[in-house]
Amino acid sequence: MQTLNDINLFQQSAFINGEWVEAQSKARVIVTNPATGEEIGSVPDMGSAEALKAVDGSHDALQSWKAMTAQARADILTSWYKLTLDNAEEIAFIMTMEQGKPLAEALGEVKYAASFIQWFAEEGKRIYGDVIPSTNKDQRFIITKEPLGVVAAITPWNFPLAMITRKAAPALAAGCTIVIKPANETPFCALAIAKLAEQAGVPAGVINVITGNSEAIGSVFTTHEKVKKLTFTGSTPIGRILMQQCSSTVKKLALELGGNAPLIIFEDADLDKAIQGALFAKFRNAGQTCVCANRIYVHKKIYSEFAAKFTEAVKSLKVGNGLDNQVQVGPLINEKAIIKAEKLIEDACSKGASLVCGGKRHELGNGFFEPTVLIDVDKSMDIVSEEIFGPVAPLIRFESDKEVIEQANDTIYGLAAYIYTENISRIFEVAEQLEYGMVGMNSTAISNEVVPFGGVKQSGFGREGSKYGLEEFVTTKYLCLEL
Ligand code: SIN
Repeated sequence: MQTLNDINLFQQSAFINGEWVEAQSKARVIVTNPATGEEIGSVPDMGSAEALKAVDGSHDALQSWKAMTAQARADILTSWYKLTLDNAEEIAFIMTMEQGKPLAEALGEVKYAASFIQWFAEEGKRIYGDVIPSTNKDQRFIITKEPLGVVAAITPWNFPLAMITRKAAPALAAGCTIVIKPANETPFCALAIAKLAEQAGVPAGVINVITGNSEAIGSVFTTHEKVKKLTFTGSTPIGRILMQQCSSTVKKLALELGGNAPLIIFEDADLDKAIQGALFAKFRNAGQTCVCANRIYVHKKIYSEFAAKFTEAVKSLKVGNGLDNQVQVGPLINEKAIIKAEKLIEDACSKGASLVCGGKRHELGNGFFEPTVLIDVDKSMDIVSEEIFGPVAPLIRFESDKEVIEQANDTIYGLAAYIYTENISRIFEVAEQLEYGMVGMNSTAISNEVVPFGGVKQSGFGREGSKYGLEEFVTTKYLCLEL
């Protein structure tokens, strides 16, 4: 069987200022495989001293990187993109080992991650300025777009590669440099993609990956005068702290935070399509995505039929180690995630919900949890207001459009929502009233590189992917010329 030691891209040092380095203290963070509980490697346990070095290095690299032509940067990014695809299987293997998702999903994520590099390599050549008609015959008004400067990124464990390239590719394409702090659960994908950036010719200091103590590194990121932007994907509680910390330097921020996605299935929906959509939106990455369906609202006329068919489909999902090709649902990331799922199920059942499948730890042990369907869920239950981040599907009955729209919006979150109906007028009436950054209409596969990903309310702000994602890394400068 293949092991990580066969993999060229398996790096266990941090990447700062073009060098592969250890922590000053020599301390290390152990990384385990959530499917087996076994140690798979370790990375340097760095802190503020190393973070300061990384920010300084990134700042030193900035002037020459931003002075390059967009085409020259695009050439390097294109080579990074190609190397990522050439090494897709190796990176996918690393991802499954450290994160747990099934190999096919991991491979899908590598391609998804690469698509951001390719898209922004091209789009970086189209950062246009403006000339504004003058209000004074002796003056000319010119608008230019400039790179923001050094960017700091804090990235999550659920998409350990794509959430890096979705930030780093537009930053680099715009002429910024970046220091990335990956989640301690999944540092190896980040180090692998940095290795490929180095091979692609990204100059020293332009991209850095620092591993270790999140609080110490995060506080350098949020308070350092040279860091001009912090971009974060993670939970809403951590997002609130980072936002407070960034206020000391009035730093630009992009926050992609938690979600509580409603998936609404109207009585006129194509049921088979809705079931497929719900399966994907709920069980992708074992339910550990910010855009996972957290609440499934089903019209009372089709509730029983949907519940029966959906439950049959859920029962057939194969759970196991993601390295097994048949597996569709891998382990949860850690014990805390399992305990959360258990507590939410217990609370729901104590308030009148019933389990129709799953509901407990899987017999495989470790991080595995049974794909679960709960029926007769209502808004008194914690599962309706909290982000589940696990393979648990709560089904809620509704009667009218007005009622379901109110319930769907009754949350602090506003990332993604989904609706299923064959009525075109209803599609727009409902979608326009949903307070969400993204709405999938008869589709739950909404993410890709050409569209803007992001939320409203306490799901954060800023957009990633698409031309809007590039705008996040430039600043608008106004030049006034007196003739
Ligand atoms: C996320 O869960 O934050 C990312 C999901 C996606 O990009 O589709």
